Amino acid sequence: MEKIKIQPKKLPAKLAVLISGRGTNLQAIIDGIKGGEINATIEIVISNNPNAYGLERAKQANIPTKVIDHREFSTREDHERAILSVLAPLDIDLIVLAGYMRILTPLFIRPYYGRIINIHPALLPAFPGTHAQKQALEYGVRISGCTTHFVDEGTDTGPIILQKAVYVRQDDTEETLSQRILKYEHILMKKTIQLFCEGRLTLDGRKVIIEGIKSIEELGL
Ligand code: GRF
Repeated sequence: MEKIKIQPKKLPAKLAVLISGRGTNLQAIIDGIKGGEINATIEIVISNNPNAYGLERAKQANIPTKVIDHREFSTREDHERAILSVLAPLDIDLIVLAGYMRILTPLFIRPYYGRIINIHPALLPAFPGTHAQKQALEYGVRISGCTTHFVDEGTDTGPIILQKAVYVRQDDTEETLSQRILKYEHILMKKTIQLFCEGRLTLDGRKVIIEGIKSIEELGL
């Protein structure tokens, strides 16, 4: 399979961020852009949930928002067509799923494959799906963490970009572990987007090559 270099058409990169809830990963991106860590603009924030607090965060940052409530559509594909039609004129370089809780179908993924990233609160392929932190606690792992990856047609199965390990404490609850992992999600999210902006990501089948390093240890995450 050929290698595909993943990069924005030009800088600053144009991002669309999809959310469903409180939006702390969205906030990390907003803060990263403001702080000069990420050479991008957020062109739109789209939520499937009209009550998502992340919408407030976007409004505070003067970012355009759009609610496309999945409950108003009879099929998953119709809901995605509505999102695609909002995205189409915006010339988006990268779609970021930031706490977005809907599974995407091939209808959405195919036209944007290689330009959709997700953040997952576990070390994939361990503990895909929802409540990953709870799954980790119940399994009894000593180390969990978080992962950014390109989105493919599976559930949390796409090519992995960055990962960060987080020790599980014996007194952890789902809440305490989630909070500790969340801090690193924000770090990985910003770093992943900046690597994209720098044109340092190449898709090689199901592997991602990051230019300029031998190991992600060198990124100092
Ligand atoms: C995060 O743990 C994210 O990994 C998961 O949803 C949680 C909430 O994210 N997908 P956010 O605070 O809404 O960004």
